[in-house]
Amino acid sequence: MYTQHLILAALAVAASSPFSIAASTHQVPFLASPSASSSIPAGVGHFSEWSAATKAYFLEDIAKGNAANWTLVMGNEGGDLDSMASAFTWAYHLGHVDPSKPAIGLLQTPEDALDLRPENKLALENVKMSPGHQDLLTFDELPIPAAELAPLLRGIVLVDHPQPVADWENATILSIFDHHVDRDYAPHASPRIFLPTASCSTLVGRQMLNEVENLPEGEYHLPHELLELLLSAIAIDSKGLQSKVATPTDKFVASRLFRRSAWRDESMYDKMEDIADVLKDAKKDLDHLNVRDLLRRDWKGGIVETPEDKPDIHLGFASIPYSLSYQIGITPNQTTQNWFAIERNWTSEIHADATVALNSFKRYVGKDGEEVEEMWLGDEDEDEDEDEDELDEADVISPLKRKGRKIKERQIILVTRPDHRLSESLADSLFAHISEAIESSDVLNAKPWHGKATLGPRQMVWTHTVANGGRKLIRPIVDDAVEKWGL
Ligand SMILES: *[C@@H]1O[C@H](CO)[C@@H](O)[C@H](O)[C@H]1NC(C)=O
Ligand SMILES: *[C@@H]1O[C@H](CO)[C@@H](O)[C@H](O)[C@H]1NC(C)=O
Ligand SMILES: *[C@@H]1O[C@H](CO)[C@@H](O)[C@H](O)[C@H]1NC(C)=O
Ligand SMILES: *[C@@H]1O[C@H](CO)[C@@H](O)[C@H](O)[C@H]1NC(C)=O
Repeated sequence: MYTQHLILAALAVAASSPFSIAASTHQVPFLASPSASSSIPAGVGHFSEWSAATKAYFLEDIAKGNAANWTLVMGNEGGDLDSMASAFTWAYHLGHVDPSKPAIGLLQTPEDALDLRPENKLALENVKMSPGHQDLLTFDELPIPAAELAPLLRGIVLVDHPQPVADWENATILSIFDHHVDRDYAPHASPRIFLPTASCSTLVGRQMLNEVENLPEGEYHLPHELLELLLSAIAIDSKGLQSKVATPTDKFVASRLFRRSAWRDESMYDKMEDIADVLKDAKKDLDHLNVRDLLRRDWKGGIVETPEDKPDIHLGFASIPYSLSYQIGITPNQTTQNWFAIERNWTSEIHADATVALNSFKRYVGKDGEEVEEMWLGDEDEDEDEDEDELDEADVISPLKRKGRKIKERQIILVTRPDHRLSESLADSLFAHISEAIESSDVLNAKPWHGKATLGPRQMVWTHTVANGGRKLIRPIVDDAVEKWGL
């Protein structure tokens, strides 16, 4: 899907003396292809060694009943590069500032979900982490279920999300770093930093450098791999610091991190743009994923409170960068109901009661006159290429008139399920209630999907073309409907 260019330059070897950073004066490549790194020894980085040692110590210490000294630093359950880089960086920082209070970063995704984000895999390889993510702690590796572990810990730190996911609700929140909207959760957390930067890694990086540069006993060793992981996250979120979403804070913090990284002899803006391009290409390399993987890749769910007389429900949102037609095409039997069977299989495993799948894709007429669809990462990919347009009224009448123009489309799939918290009649009622909220939204102007006739009970698909109509727009509409269900 994208051209893999092998860069055959030798990797600079990290300086191993504890209080210096790598003394490389030549260019350090950011490898574009996982296979290109096969000649590089796995997991040789200082950061990888520290992570592996910390993970082993954590698993042993928790088994001994010593949870009370530990801090868990966790990103959001989407598990993107920003969450991952922020969590592992802050854990490294805490563990070095006060080793008597050990800290570990936690990925809130299962180990086998890591490969659903090829950009994460690539970024980790470039900072010399072990293959298979053995040195990272993932959700399914917790020695005790999260809900039981939560109250036993010293506390948790939230990065890249403003309030804990349900399992962690009984943990002490020590600190929060986030670039989303502040929900006033844990007012006494410290530091408690909310700022609308492009990347949460900017906020974590800034706080880390501020503290490191003022430690009375002098700086601890900041491995260049850690700095480069943070810079990679900032690069992908800020489109290489070029996009308007890059705030002055992102740029200033990136420059402070860059000066200490192994890339410091290169031009920061050029390097950040290169890295953003390589990671963005990797991120789009999703053609090998099946429907189950696509549902899991960017899933955000949780318990939503409902009015008194209704059971609280587990509501989940999947963001998928392909149309439903494409997804049906990759099911074994290529039928609509096959797609819903896969959805049912996945959501019954995680005990979700309602699923909202948000598809985004581009449609255009190709050279041979055939209608072509292309994946589109939607909210995660806000590039405005010249040949792309939002659909306007004229397009609705005849989208195909505009040969070669790419038109961005979105779909909303809604399913409710009666087999966990809901009875048949409650599942029907919830389905009708959420449907009503979607259909009556003036903002969305949602239309029934063309294949509506192939849908079963409690299944619906709408299409719409709102430019920023991804999860950030739909989730509050649905959450609000669920909170007012039956009122
Ligand atoms: C916490 O750490 C201190 C200092 O290392 C140690 O003495 C204590 O036993 C630990 N407590 C627990 C519950 O692990
Ligand atoms: C948190 O604690 C409350 C009160 O003990 C309990 O009812 C609730 O189930 C706990 N939450 C989780 C996720 O375990
Ligand atoms: C696919 O079709 C075959 C043959 O009609 C049927 O036996 C099988 O159950 C179907 N599988 C799914 C997942 O629908
Ligand atoms: C989901 O599908 C897998 C593989 O087909 C199967 O082993 C598993 O039992 C299914 N789970 C549920 C909850 O249906």
